[in-house]
Amino acid sequence: MKNITLLGSTGSIGVNALKILERYPDQFRVLALGAGRNIERLATQIEQFHPSAVAVQDAESAHQLRELCPDKQACRVLWGNEGFMELAALEESDTVISAIMGAAGLLPTFSAIRAGKDVALANKETMVMAGGLVMAEARKQGVSLLPIDSEHSAILQSLQGHAREDVRRIILTASGGPFRTFSLTQMAEVTPDDALNHPNWLMGPKITIDSATLMNKGLEAIEAKWLFDLSMDQITILVHPQSIVHSMVEYRDGSTIAQLGAPDMTIPIAYALSYPRHLESLLPPLDLGSLGTLSFEEPDLNKFKCLSLALEAASTGGTMPAVLNAANEIAVSAFLSGKIRFLAIPDVIEQTMQKHAPLPGKSIEEVMDADGWARKIAKALLNEFDLK
Ligand SMILES: NC(=O)c1ccc[n+]([C@@H]2O[C@H](COP(=O)([O-])OP(=O)(O)OC[C@H]3O[C@@H](n4cnc5c(N)ncnc54)[C@H](OP(=O)(O)O)[C@@H]3O)[C@@H](O)[C@H]2O)c1
Repeated sequence: MKNITLLGSTGSIGVNALKILERYPDQFRVLALGAGRNIERLATQIEQFHPSAVAVQDAESAHQLRELCPDKQACRVLWGNEGFMELAALEESDTVISAIMGAAGLLPTFSAIRAGKDVALANKETMVMAGGLVMAEARKQGVSLLPIDSEHSAILQSLQGHAREDVRRIILTASGGPFRTFSLTQMAEVTPDDALNHPNWLMGPKITIDSATLMNKGLEAIEAKWLFDLSMDQITILVHPQSIVHSMVEYRDGSTIAQLGAPDMTIPIAYALSYPRHLESLLPPLDLGSLGTLSFEEPDLNKFKCLSLALEAASTGGTMPAVLNAANEIAVSAFLSGKIRFLAIPDVIEQTMQKHAPLPGKSIEEVMDADGWARKIAKALLNEFDLK
């Protein structure tokens, strides 16, 4: 029986993770839940799973939750950064599922690792911002960091039973998003609703926009570099519109091992929780015969500038990936609220990166400072791209 702390329980990954935890009550117990501001959904989850503690984004949300919760005594309510860090380090917890959206996931995830918890990691921003520090701390504490991202889960599965030194490269697959076949002229006119209409995956809004710009694949390349101890030139990105081959590992004899599956996040979430075993799934088996064709193509880096920016940030290193990530969060949020156009997203990020003098990123504090700096710069830049 594993005691699970789930950070981001009200989100897309969080809700899918709860489906798995609910299905295997003999293997998992929900010890604690963390959410942002969706207090009604969290209150329902508390009623169903009876966690002993929860954390929410701010004091106001904590107040609302206390009002809403039927049994105020049974569940401790924490809030803010401190609250999340405490929740992530609870003594009774064995595994922390890190599924908060964005940079807000870094401090709680780091706190979990420092407290010696195994981490099932969805929050890729943690690895983009501070992958080197996170991996060093995980090694120091002897904890395992198991990916939830379907691509990284595919890599982990494709590495099983092979010698690490035989790996030549990995191939991360990308769906290409809803604008794969669009021209730049067409992309200039797309709305948030168009961009939120992902062809294969149902996900939270921020990662859905990242998939439409292909920033998501850039963030994943940086995540893969740290998780699997690769150099950036060992990472190839290939567009695969069907999202069935979730990624591949190529070995030095040319053998290429892939993991295939339906585009459903319950599969990689379950694997991160049950590794190295595979849990029974309720999904229908993969029917390759009726799918017929699996296709692959090179990504268009001219059209998807966010992907080039992410690769550039990775090669610069230090605090640059944290700056890329923060500027992206600001630009995506501005696009979603109708303030800037879709094609202004890479412009905001690029201009923020150009203003940054990267530091080595030797501590979490240095990384968080770079994140705060980039948010200010990117917000100021938004006015230059204002639609109104
Ligand atoms: N969705 C996927 O299929 C998928 C696949 C691979 C990786 N991921 C990664 O998983 C993470 C979560 O993605 P998602 O799609 O599940 O996002 P989502 O649906 O937007 O959910 C985000 C979760 O984080 C919480 N949250 C947001 N800001 C917070 C803050 N400042 N403090 C505390 N909690 C906060 C939200 O709470 P409220 O809603 O209560 O405000 C919600 O529970 C991201 O890093 C994403 O890149 C997602």
